[in-house]
Amino acid sequence: MKRKVIALFLILAVVAGTAFANGQQEAADGGKKVVGFSQCDSQQAWRWAETESVKQEAAKRGYELKYNDAQAVQANQIAAIRSFIAQGVDGILLAPQVMTGFGPVLEEAKEAGIPVVLLDRLVAEDEDLFFTFIGSDFVWEGEEMAKIVVEETGGKARIAELQGTPGADPTIDRKKGFENVINEYPDMQIILSQTGDFNRTKGKEVMEAFMKAEGNNIDVIYCHNDDMAIGAIQAVREYGLEPGQDIKIYSIDGIKDAFQAMVDGDLNAVVECTPLLGPQGFDALEAAWRGETLPKWVMSEDGIFRMDEAAALIDGRAY
Ligand code: AHR
Repeated sequence: MKRKVIALFLILAVVAGTAFANGQQEAADGGKKVVGFSQCDSQQAWRWAETESVKQEAAKRGYELKYNDAQAVQANQIAAIRSFIAQGVDGILLAPQVMTGFGPVLEEAKEAGIPVVLLDRLVAEDEDLFFTFIGSDFVWEGEEMAKIVVEETGGKARIAELQGTPGADPTIDRKKGFENVINEYPDMQIILSQTGDFNRTKGKEVMEAFMKAEGNNIDVIYCHNDDMAIGAIQAVREYGLEPGQDIKIYSIDGIKDAFQAMVDGDLNAVVECTPLLGPQGFDALEAAWRGETLPKWVMSEDGIFRMDEAAALIDGRAY
C-alpha cells in the first residue's frame, strides 16, 4: 500500500512540476490560464499575421485566449481591456492603436494584479504599468531605409512620404529615423507627406492625390508600411509611370505581397518588422506568472531586403 501512495505522490509531483516548468499553464483554480488579447485592428496583412501568431501560440501552450479586434478605435481597446479585467483573466496582451490614453485602464489592470505585455507598439505611459514591450526598433527601421534610399539615389531625391496611423509609435519613430539620416543630405527633400493610416486603400488614395499634384517631380516614395506601398504602386502605375523604375518605392514590414512586389520590380527595398510575436508574448506572461522580471523592451530581430534578393527568399517567408 505504502509503495502505491509513494508512486502516486511522485506522479503528481512530476505533473505539477511539468506544468510549473511550462510557465504554470494552470490557473489558480486549477483550470486553464486565460489570456486577453486586445488587437488594435484587422485591416492589414501584417495584423492578420500577428493575430495568427498569438492564436496559434495560445493553442500550442494550452491557454484560453479571449480575442478582441478594436477595428482601429482606441475606445474599443480600452473597453476590451476593462472586460478582460472584469472576467479575471490571468494576463493581457495589448497591441495599442496609439501611444497615449491607456494610462487609466493600465492602472486598473495593475490594481487587479494582471500583467500586461505590449505587442509591437509602445505606449507613452509609466513603465510600471506594463510588464514589458515586445517589438521592433522603429527608429532603426527608418534610419536603415533612409540609408538605402541615399545609396540608391546618390543622395539626391524629392521624396513623397506615406505615414502610418497618427500618434502610433511606429509612425512617430519611422519618420524620426528616416529624417535623422536624410537631414544630413541637402538634396534629399521630403516634398509631400501625409498619413495613409497603414492602410492599402488609403495609401493608394493619398498617392493618387500626390501624383496629381507632383507626379513628375517625385523620385522616391517612402512608405511606413507595405500595405500602403502596395497601394502606392497601383497609383503610380495608373498614373502612367513605372513603379520601382520611374519612381523608386521603399517600405517597412516584409509581408509576402511586398516580396512579390520586389520580385515584380515594383518595390526597391524592404526593412522588416516582424509580426510573429506570439511566442515571445507568452514567454513574457509566463515569466510574469513565475514572479520574474524582464527588461522593459524585448527587441525583435529584423532583416533588410533588396529587390534583387527577393526571388530567392519569397518562398521561405513565414508571413
Ligand atoms: O506596429 C507595427 C505596424 O503596425 C506595422 O508596420 C503596420 O503594418 C501595422 O499596422
